[in-house]
Amino acid sequence: MVTAGPTYEAIDPVRFIGNRSSGKMGFALAESAARRGAQVTLVAGPVALETPRGVTRKNVESAREMAQAVLPLVEQNPPPDCIVMAAAVADHRPSEVSAHKRKKQDLGTSPTIALVENPDILRALGVAKQGIAPLLVGFAAETQDLDAYARRKLREKGCDVLIANNVAEAGSGFGSDTNRVTILVRRGDDIDVVPLPLMPKQEVAQHIWNQLLPLLPRPGS
Ligand code: C5P
Repeated sequence: MVTAGPTYEAIDPVRFIGNRSSGKMGFALAESAARRGAQVTLVAGPVALETPRGVTRKNVESAREMAQAVLPLVEQNPPPDCIVMAAAVADHRPSEVSAHKRKKQDLGTSPTIALVENPDILRALGVAKQGIAPLLVGFAAETQDLDAYARRKLREKGCDVLIANNVAEAGSGFGSDTNRVTILVRRGDDIDVVPLPLMPKQEVAQHIWNQLLPLLPRPGS
């Protein structure tokens, strides 16, 4: 199972809080897994990308919708062998959604939007992992101190592998067709660090699956 794209958190019927994720990295991962013969479900936030051949797609908009789509898939019997959370899920959402478009004249000169925390899907899966036991892969989009944040995130979110990318770097991250990522693989108390050069997202996806394949359960085991 792969998640991809941003989430949109509604303010009112016409406005939302979102982010610059294009979904390209997650879609490339889904496509590459399907090409290798995997049965892939892609849970996609609002993006303008075609569904890769052979992939089952579920469209969602908000973080809460994404959580509602992901959790039943994880609870299936058997659960997915691998969950890749490539989506850029919004950490917060407006605490209230106006039923009608907020009017400028009603808002005053410096309106505020109160936020509440969204469910952290990856962390919830990391906590539940003992029961479900798939390979859990997170993404970290950072603009500074990539290595330190990525190591911390790998531990805090309870995932097995973390794909870190510096979204502030030219040619890397949101919207771009290329990416430069570092793959962190947890091995007991140690972390293996695999830095990759800048390359098209399709090729990054191949490298990521090459790292993940030996960690996946073998068919029939
Ligand atoms: O904490 P941060 O948002 O940087 O973590 C990124 C990772 O966590 C990504 O794999 C993303 O899909 C996941 N995430 C999540 N639910 C959230 C926020 C992030 O699953 N609410």
